[in-house]
Amino acid sequence: MEIDDTSSAVHAQSDNDFREALERVVAHRPWRLVTDLEKDESAGVLKYEFVTNDGKENSLIDLVHCKCLFGRQLPKMPKEYIVRLVFDRRHICLVMKRRQEVAIPSSTPSGSKTPSPEEEKTIRVQDVVVGAVCFRLFGSFAEIAFLAVSSKEQVRGYGTRLMNQLKEALKHHGITDLVTYADNAAVGYFAKQGFYSPTASQATKSDSEWHTCIKTGYDGYIKDYDGANKMVCCIYKSVDYLRLQEMRVECTSALWQVFLTKSTPVRHKGLEMMPKRIFEVPGLEHLAPPEENEEPPRSRRSTPRPESPPRQRPVPSRLQVPTSIEAMVSDVIETALSNGSSWPFRDPVDVSLAPDYYQVIRHPMDLSTMKSKNQKNIYRTLDEVRSDFRLMFENCLFYNGDESVYAHAAGVLERAVMQRLDRLEAMAGHK
Ligand code: ACO
Repeated sequence: MEIDDTSSAVHAQSDNDFREALERVVAHRPWRLVTDLEKDESAGVLKYEFVTNDGKENSLIDLVHCKCLFGRQLPKMPKEYIVRLVFDRRHICLVMKRRQEVAIPSSTPSGSKTPSPEEEKTIRVQDVVVGAVCFRLFGSFAEIAFLAVSSKEQVRGYGTRLMNQLKEALKHHGITDLVTYADNAAVGYFAKQGFYSPTASQATKSDSEWHTCIKTGYDGYIKDYDGANKMVCCIYKSVDYLRLQEMRVECTSALWQVFLTKSTPVRHKGLEMMPKRIFEVPGLEHLAPPEENEEPPRSRRSTPRPESPPRQRPVPSRLQVPTSIEAMVSDVIETALSNGSSWPFRDPVDVSLAPDYYQVIRHPMDLSTMKSKNQKNIYRTLDEVRSDFRLMFENCLFYNGDESVYAHAAGVLERAVMQRLDRLEAMAGHK
């Protein structure tokens, strides 16, 4: 996957379109993109059940429906084989049921072959199996034997939701990988769910290190099928498979922030694996919290080797004591600029983003203004710098409100800056 700050959409639209789009996105925090399927799930119209052959009547009825669904949707699969696996006690079916009206054929009166029109109209509301996936657990991975969605409901997102429900449920049971033999016709669907052929080029070296099933080898466990494609998919603990849409919006928003704060588009190397945290995405490193990239790694060796003279380790910049007010102010401004939450405060507010800003805010302040004030030696005490920071944060809250994405960034940055100022004051006092 290529991460490109100048995606095709960026090329297609002007800066202003993007700024407006960003405004719209941030204005709707907290993100909550509810799909129709999610609405149906909350309303109880759509539900999921794990069913296995435990001998209970309801389970057997559900499994018969699964068998019929698989039989209809996988016509080339021998019916006996479907029955054997679906009713095998080591297999489990995740069944997707939809509450809907069903025409129930009434019992025909004796002597008449066809039911009367009134009798045909008998309608009942009941839970109907609209999708199912039959799988078996093998230690840390699961093999999907069959998967199908009823023909009336296909290509409406049911297959994706069913797969995500399965991943989310298995994730909580320590399952790290899914394996399947996909029919040629279904390879495209599985690819869109994150499956790939382990022998194909997508299986990078780093992937093979991560995939337990590849590391431990599943070939001894599951059967090989002719005419089907072996595909695997990793289940990531850090991904919430039931709110993928929202996670996408959060990532998009982060990319926009990068786009808006960079004047020159940069094409980064693509991702080799799913990042655990947003700042692991190439180009988004600056979103890392300060501790992540500022703390120098600690050496395990506590004493120097006797034969070599003790190495003079360079003192990390954040531990050096600045000697003048100008150096201290410069230090705290650099601390602020390197913080991932400083993006709204780096430059004066752009009027094209906020046309009325300078009518509302009479005393604007930002980091670049503070930097140039410092270069002109305007600051005489750290208190003066502190009050400029306060002014900058108060302006932000006053203009954007307490709930805005900017207010959140201001809170994070304020804590980091005030901590650094306190520390500088303490160090200066001890000199
Ligand atoms: N080939 C390529 N792409 C597909 C296919 C397919 N057969 N089916 C769906 N897709 C795409 C959709 O267009 C959609 O793309 P988009 O996200 O870009 O819009 C995406 O995959 C997800 O589609 P959904 O609507 O979520 O999937 P759907 O509800 O249609 O379910 C399924 C997919 C289960 C494959 C269904 O089409 C089906 O039951 N097919 C017949 C049975 C079958 O082939 N089962 C798999 C056999 S392999 C096995 O069981 C191990």
